[in-house]
Amino acid sequence: MRILFLGDIVVQSGVSAVCACTPMLQKQYQPDITIANGENAADGKGMTKELYNRLKAAGIDLITLGNHAFSKRAFLFDTDDCMDIIWPANIGTYAPSRPVLIRLVNGKRLAVLNILGNVFMNADYEDPILVTKQILRHISADVILIDFHAEATSEKSIYFQYFKDRVTAIIGTHTHVQTADEKVENGCAFITDAGMCGPYDSVLGRDRNEAMDHAITGCSHYLPSDNASLICGLVIDIDDHTNRAVSIQRIQLRPGPND
Ligand code: FE2
Repeated sequence: MRILFLGDIVVQSGVSAVCACTPMLQKQYQPDITIANGENAADGKGMTKELYNRLKAAGIDLITLGNHAFSKRAFLFDTDDCMDIIWPANIGTYAPSRPVLIRLVNGKRLAVLNILGNVFMNADYEDPILVTKQILRHISADVILIDFHAEATSEKSIYFQYFKDRVTAIIGTHTHVQTADEKVENGCAFITDAGMCGPYDSVLGRDRNEAMDHAITGCSHYLPSDNASLICGLVIDIDDHTNRAVSIQRIQLRPGPND
């Protein structure tokens, strides 16, 4: 099984870039399934039903989210119309329950989990390791991929070491900066952060002047950058006999000078 995973889709520019690039990436890498983190798609914070439909139409099969999953409150009431999306299991008790997505891919049961880290996240989420253990106890799958949406590199590394024997891939998301530490250990693929699909000339997707103004004056309204986006992602190969990961490859496409 080959999985194409695209990092956090950030603001309108990132959505447009993902919609434009996904068919090309699928032609080039021939994945069996394409997954993307969409938690910053709606103006930097959250998801909408309209954006979900747009990303699905562009070829994204499954969408993961993060701490901003329900920053656009209306999406809380649209989840039943959006069955190919998952939000962090430990985001809070107000969220609808969808702890895992299971899909049949090439005759294999693929389970996708989405879990939030706790370190430097400005919120007190339920312990990610305990929540993950609880979910894993109740699912039956051949291949398990976890989008671990967290800030701290140390927390992501500890989480990987804890679960690497039990799952097939642990993909870090949230920081918007792609790390160069991809690896496979004990048949589990890992990267600290997949990076973002969002405006290249920006501060993590945010207009750089507004972000500087916020840092200096404290005034904040989150102005999305409308500059051209880079695409960050991963290709993960899983052995069809052992159901264990054999390789993980980083993708990074930066916009050209005329974009
Ligand atoms: Fe996030």
